[in-house]
Amino acid sequence: MTKTIFTVTAALAAGCALAQLSDDEALKAAKETLAKMTLEEKTQLLAGSGTMTLAAIPRVGINAEWTMSDNSSTVRPAMNRWDWGYPQPRSENTKLPSLSALAQTWDVEWARKHGETLGAEMRDRGVDELLGPGVNIMRTPLNGRNWEYLGEDPVLAAKLCVPMIKGVQSYDVAATVKHFCLNNQEWNRNHVDTHVDARTFNEIYLPAFKAAVQEGEALCVMTSYNKVDGIWASENKYNQRGILRDRWGFKGLIETDWGGQHSCDFAINNGGGIEMHWGQGIKYLYNPKEGKFPLAEAVRAGKVPEANVDEAALHTLYVMAKTGFLTGAPRKAGERNTPKHQQIARGEGADSIVLLRNAKGLLPLKTEGVKKVLVIGKGANDKQCGKGCSGEGNVPYEITLFAAVKKRFAEAEVKLMPFCAKMEIATTDTSNAAIAGGHVEQKTKVDYCDPAELKAAAEAADLVIVFTGTELGYQENMESESRDRVEFCLPPALQAAMHTILDWKLPNLVVVSRSGTPVGYTWTDKADTLVQTSYLGMEEGNSIVDVLVGDVNPSGKLAQSWPKAYADTAVAQCGTYNGQNVSYNERFYVGYRWFEHKKIEPLFPFGFGLSYTTFAYGDPSVVKTGDTWEISVPVTNTGKVPGREVVQIYAAYPGAKVERCEKELKGFAKTQLLGPGATETLKIKVTERDLAYWDDFTNRFTTDAGDYEFLVGASSVDIRGKMAVKVAGTTLYRD
Ligand code: BGC
Repeated sequence: MTKTIFTVTAALAAGCALAQLSDDEALKAAKETLAKMTLEEKTQLLAGSGTMTLAAIPRVGINAEWTMSDNSSTVRPAMNRWDWGYPQPRSENTKLPSLSALAQTWDVEWARKHGETLGAEMRDRGVDELLGPGVNIMRTPLNGRNWEYLGEDPVLAAKLCVPMIKGVQSYDVAATVKHFCLNNQEWNRNHVDTHVDARTFNEIYLPAFKAAVQEGEALCVMTSYNKVDGIWASENKYNQRGILRDRWGFKGLIETDWGGQHSCDFAINNGGGIEMHWGQGIKYLYNPKEGKFPLAEAVRAGKVPEANVDEAALHTLYVMAKTGFLTGAPRKAGERNTPKHQQIARGEGADSIVLLRNAKGLLPLKTEGVKKVLVIGKGANDKQCGKGCSGEGNVPYEITLFAAVKKRFAEAEVKLMPFCAKMEIATTDTSNAAIAGGHVEQKTKVDYCDPAELKAAAEAADLVIVFTGTELGYQENMESESRDRVEFCLPPALQAAMHTILDWKLPNLVVVSRSGTPVGYTWTDKADTLVQTSYLGMEEGNSIVDVLVGDVNPSGKLAQSWPKAYADTAVAQCGTYNGQNVSYNERFYVGYRWFEHKKIEPLFPFGFGLSYTTFAYGDPSVVKTGDTWEISVPVTNTGKVPGREVVQIYAAYPGAKVERCEKELKGFAKTQLLGPGATETLKIKVTERDLAYWDDFTNRFTTDAGDYEFLVGASSVDIRGKMAVKVAGTTLYRD
């Protein structure tokens, strides 16, 4: 069966939203309600009535508060009306893998299931709007929120966010694509001013947002905290009106990030939407705590045309109508924490894991006869689901790697020991994490183990699992919002401990590294067996063990180039990373585009990942219909165990008239589980428009007539086939 057939079948099985009106019907319903509203009531549609709500206005038929909830991998518990706290008891929800993990699956089906799971859990909780997905591109490995995003490539991020959004919204709720735009670091995120040239903006940083809005039909967009060319993103006319509304035809609502509103009339006159903040901080447009209406006053004072208020209020009502919230139409029923959702968390997680090294064939592990297992690294038993600020959740249970190993090796003695690394770690108190500044540093001593004692335990074990990487939170090198990691590398004492342990040359040692972003490692050439995972949510331990023992053959591939050193990265070499004015001078050379342009070898390239089996690629072929090529790639499992393979199509521009990257991802597909000897022909479509660059002179995407190449890759560097194609005439695209 081909991929095409599989996708169509799956889409049919997915079912549709019940309440959704057509765009015209929704607009009509929204207009009818707007016509009944007073200026004050319209103002109420443009600001929170609390931290996560918009006001109910029963007089016009809005009988309940519109409720929002973070994030991209779970439905975070409801929050207090006037602060960031949670009321008791907190609701429990499934926590799925983070988006950085979803990106590593390279699988649109997982993206759809991920979205549907969130949509179903929202409905079960009575949540109307999800504050996700986040689609900001990874520009620097230091960004504290890379784990919340979909990697470094605009095409990968775009193709995965679309089915996820559709999955969420198939439950008659709204998804919010965030953070629009150029929020590619957390360092001073609330004040930093970003500057990017038009070509880079259009080719790298906008495509995922555009796909989210146009193909995914995301109903909401959240603006970012930062400034863009001196103007706050929340009041940036060029981006909000010019790009979102005029160019992309976005009909849904725009809202600020929490606390990202800076003005009343300036924002609303420049296409700004809903002001959100922790309840008490809402004040520019409407002050729910004090019952004041500054926006209505600004209209009366002649500072804001009422038409601008109407326009913005209509967008809110339109979203309410599309989801059935406004019209009272029956909405799809949801469910929460079901075995099905738990299986999705576990399966998506396992399919996202990337096998980086298996030099001695130690994996998959043999479970029989294993009497002693040593897990090194206390992180292997630290729960993560409740951490990560707005990315956090409250889960019914969480399986750590240590717990899963204990369960899987039930007959063995399984021991957990800390690293032989004497360390103190700085903790940052971020009681109000969304607001930069005011952090308090403290020092915590990390558990330490004597190297001789650790070595004796490791040598006595039949299996040693070393667990390294980052954690979520606010200690040094942890990943979380409102702060970037300070160092690319893990603390020197930890690196030294890794060298010490690997120098023992234990034949039965696996390194599992977990992070949502590349981390500087100095020891990888000593690690024969190395597995990379991102944050996998509440089934994390099970997902990892499923892969280690071979119940699931790893099929994840890196969504981020893994640099050897921070000094190799574009932002380091171009000096374009700071906390004040950030000029994206590396331009479109982001991720693998940079490494290829500068001929710098990364530690592990974008798109790379091994399997327990091997795949042979047959000769690719290409057929063109209209302006679309269909590339067929036969993939055969030539090994001994079933497995899945991701095939990537890159475009190269041998005859380009303008500066272009060496190659760029244009499409990808993943096989089903192929048994030994089985072949599947993947079909991947690329259009002439996909080959376009942004032309600064015409302000248009342009595909020049000429020669192009499609490269069939098992990764960005492992190219298995090439096809030359031609474009007959030059075309300029409006967007
Ligand atoms: C984050 C957003 C989040 C919002 C609401 C902000 O601090 O940047 O991603 O959706 O808080 O919790």
